[in-house]
Amino acid sequence: MQTINVVVLAAGKGTRMYSALPKVLHKLAGRSLLQHVLDTAAQLGNTTTQIVIGHGAEQVQESVGTQKVNFVLQDKQLGTAHAVHQALPHLDQQAMALVLYGDVPLVQSSTLEKLVNAADQNSMAVLTCTVANPAGLGRIVRDDKGDICAIVEDKDATAAQKAIREINTGMMAIPVQRLQQWLPRIKTNNAQGEYYLTDIVELALADGCRVNTSVCEDELEVAGINNRLQLAELERHYQQREAKKLLLAGVTLRDPDRFDLRGKLTVGQDVEIDINVILTGEVTLGSNVRIGANCELKNCQVGNGTIIAANSVIEEAVIGKDCSIGPFARIRPGTEMADEARVGNFVEIKKSKIGRHSKVNHLSYIGDSELGVDVNIGAGTITCNYDGVNKFKTVLGDNVFIGSNTALVAPVTVASGATVGAGSVITRDVAEKQLAIARGRQSNFDGWVRPHKVTKQEPKQS
Ligand code: UD1
Ligand code: CA
Repeated sequence: MQTINVVVLAAGKGTRMYSALPKVLHKLAGRSLLQHVLDTAAQLGNTTTQIVIGHGAEQVQESVGTQKVNFVLQDKQLGTAHAVHQALPHLDQQAMALVLYGDVPLVQSSTLEKLVNAADQNSMAVLTCTVANPAGLGRIVRDDKGDICAIVEDKDATAAQKAIREINTGMMAIPVQRLQQWLPRIKTNNAQGEYYLTDIVELALADGCRVNTSVCEDELEVAGINNRLQLAELERHYQQREAKKLLLAGVTLRDPDRFDLRGKLTVGQDVEIDINVILTGEVTLGSNVRIGANCELKNCQVGNGTIIAANSVIEEAVIGKDCSIGPFARIRPGTEMADEARVGNFVEIKKSKIGRHSKVNHLSYIGDSELGVDVNIGAGTITCNYDGVNKFKTVLGDNVFIGSNTALVAPVTVASGATVGAGSVITRDVAEKQLAIARGRQSNFDGWVRPHKVTKQEPKQS
């Protein structure tokens, strides 16, 4: 297999985003535009990757993180050919250069494979697409035989050329050896005074090199993003594509237009997802999991048969089988719920283990805690796990019963089988099977007369 030297152009400013963030770092489905391109390119196999950066170079560089890529700085953005030229010293003579744009996020690896296969050591290939509205884009000019003879930029095009709806997507496969010969010959004699990579078509033909076109049928797959309207349109396109895949793979989405996947979803059988659910990062849902409306799940695993009711938020948590969560529950990072555990409405759980078949059903905060099996937490109970500086642990043994509106002041342990009376403030450990009550004693007074208002008297007439 030949080596593909991917060159991603990402130096542009993205003026029309009106943003402090470099354009290629804006997010689509939770990943930066650039990351989409890099992830797709990585699927091609035998690749090296150069990213041409300029505007917001540092930020762009930091965003890429772990992936093995090389950054090439383009100080001034003098045009697409100039950008590719900066990467040239890093390319391998024997390889095929594949030029991609950091702001064209949805291109598929199969499309890129076709493009690369349309070129060889003696020919280059351009990825084209026939679009509804070609305004602003480079037009593909073909001769009588239908072969490409030039790409003309919108600003340089004649009225007749402007009527052409087949456009240059910008993506090209060019043998590095040839690129080396052509790039230095590109001039700036055009309407924008820029070094146009598109001029390479005429140079190639003049050198007797074949120029092939590979045509992409899906306009949105090769669409570039210049403003936030286009970003929103491509986001929807992506989401529809993912929703369709999930539906066809056996997931019930109550409304595919109201579903957002910002990461990777792994599912069992017969999963049901109601409207306005947002899944972020790596989410795994077991068989028969049901998710109610307006839930957000981020980096979590949910076991078979668990039901997550409407308006719940779950992040970095592992949820067992046949659990019940919500409505209006918040499960925060580091939480592990064992099978059949229940967390009800207006309950927040943070970094805690909830044992099998334990219940925290109403209006509670459980943080830095370990609950055994069959624990019952009464409504309104909270763990006081934080003294303003340090975090402390609460440990509740199996079969512990905590009465409503209890404050468990950590560090504290309530051992197995113990009971805590409602309204208690528990500051000391409770031993096995003890009853602990820590609240003011009730006093009753007979015949109590409430204070009453004195009504104002009319002034006496004399
Ligand atoms: C370019 C193509 C046009 C094509 C269109 C598709 C040229 C001359 N024109 O036009 O035929 O239809 O893309 O979207 O190639 N960039 C740099 N450095 C530069 C200039 C650009 O890194 O000096 C990057 C930009 O960040 C962007 C990409 O290259 O990712 C395209 O640049 P842009 O200025 O948007 O080119 P267009 O005028 O849209
Ligand atoms: Ca553009």
